[in-house]
Amino acid sequence: MVEGEEELIRTSVSEVLGEQEAVRESLIPILLRVQEKLSYLPPLAMELIAGALQIPAVDVFGLATFYNQFRLHPPGKYQLQVCMGTACYMVGGKIALDCFERRLGINEGETTPDREFSLERVACVGCCTLAPVVVVNEEVEGRVTPTRVDGILIAFGKKIQPSTGVGEKKGDDGS
Ligand code: FES
Repeated sequence: MVEGEEELIRTSVSEVLGEQEAVRESLIPILLRVQEKLSYLPPLAMELIAGALQIPAVDVFGLATFYNQFRLHPPGKYQLQVCMGTACYMVGGKIALDCFERRLGINEGETTPDREFSLERVACVGCCTLAPVVVVNEEVEGRVTPTRVDGILIAFGKKIQPSTGVGEKKGDDGS
């Protein structure tokens, strides 16, 4: 959690609970509204909502993880969306995703601890002729090879160490 975030979460949840009836039936609208304010649903927000609605926190977590419109990790400064549509998948989309995961030391759906990069897979973004495609903060990058993955990350300030390809695992780039 970054500095001042806890207070922001508490304030945002309290504002939303002031707008909505605190009953179980309002859970989804409350979660959506809190997500709108915070750009994601932090665990603390879900705990506070569960407390206010007098329902188990596990029910709130369960619902938030079930529906994919809920975002459980904060958006990074650079939001990387790797296309996993058929055309991209067939020509290396998964390889590009694996490269990003390895370089950033996170899995898809997560955000780096410094909140610089978030990584997610998306369905076809409509640029199949450029496959495999990655969208970075709404800018389309086409024909994303592993080398291009490094180029994209370096362009956004990520320090990349040369890969040995031997015994490499997540975070081996010193991140
Ligand atoms: S499948 Fe990736 S842009 Fe269409």
